[in-house]
Amino acid sequence: MNHAAVSPLSCRVRNAMVGLLEDVHRFGSEHWDRWVDAYAATRRAVSNLLGSDPSEIAFIKNTSEGISLFTNGLDWREGDEVVSVEGEFPANYYPWHALDKKGVTLRLVKGESGRVSLDEIARALGPRTRVVTVSFVQFLSGFRLDLEALGEICAAHKALLFVDAIQGLGAFPLDVRRAQIAGLAADGHKWLTGPEGSGLLFIRKDLLDSIQPTSLGWMNFRRWMDFSSHDPTWRDDARRYESGTLNTVGIYGLGAAVDLLLEIGIENISERVLDLTDRLRAGLKERGHEVFGPTARAESSGIVSFIPRSQTADQVVEELHGDRIMVSARCGKVRVSPHFYNSEAEIDCLLEQLP
Ligand SMILES: Cc1ncc(COP(=O)(O)O)c(C=O)c1O
Repeated sequence: MNHAAVSPLSCRVRNAMVGLLEDVHRFGSEHWDRWVDAYAATRRAVSNLLGSDPSEIAFIKNTSEGISLFTNGLDWREGDEVVSVEGEFPANYYPWHALDKKGVTLRLVKGESGRVSLDEIARALGPRTRVVTVSFVQFLSGFRLDLEALGEICAAHKALLFVDAIQGLGAFPLDVRRAQIAGLAADGHKWLTGPEGSGLLFIRKDLLDSIQPTSLGWMNFRRWMDFSSHDPTWRDDARRYESGTLNTVGIYGLGAAVDLLLEIGIENISERVLDLTDRLRAGLKERGHEVFGPTARAESSGIVSFIPRSQTADQVVEELHGDRIMVSARCGKVRVSPHFYNSEAEIDCLLEQLP
């Protein structure tokens, strides 16, 4: 119950990755054409998940890289502003904060008990706001933002909406068109149930020319397969953000993970996750632990954090680990994060094991 950290890999994901390793072990690059098919299939699967077009998807190594690509690629002007919220995971803070070197101000909206207020965000937007950057789900409180409502606010102010989606994507529906998202990044190893180091970046098609690729190699360019060419014309889709050889084994894993989630259905997954976290929250309150974060279903996610009644978070995490129950200690709280395949019995078992 630690999907907010790293998910275990399903049999389907493991088999896809082991199959590729075995193939490369025996045949080297002989079946290279199959890898190319797998890149295309995974791009399609990710697009189905996001409601995007495959041409808007680039493979990246992690969320941080995607955020940095976006922050470094925009043509910032002195005096521009970025709006975000307090308490974001550091990956969605440092790259924006570093823009102060270019004269860009990062404005942080205060949250309350891990809740993010859309009204507060709206109030922070001004004529110089270029980007609003938020996590789909907050890593500590588990607060899940209404991205479609935020997309409306951003559109009204002509600000670009960027989303760090790693704590929600795979467990909750997210439609980049309906939420009017400009850019989004996530690695595969949390709610997508894929491997580490195999992430995805979405950049809206009409922004490809406004967000310059900053990590360059031989594959960003239109004539990338012509090794005698030094033609600096970008590829015409989001593959312009991929600089060199891809993480093929990771992409096999990511593709198998997304296919499995889509087969089960994201709506089914989200209802199931919310049933489990509702049960968990109720049990924690009953036992006198202090739950941190949202309680309304519309704002909840797969993450439930709490301050334990008697021991420290570290002690509780260690004890539970001794009982083979994996959760995390974060910022003085115990963070529990079950996915759809965890059972009610497992939730009850965790509650019973709590000191
Ligand atoms: C909100 C959020 N963003 C990003 C990350 C991780 O970023 P990366 O994929 O670069 O490791 C995490 C968790 O580790 C997170 O909770």
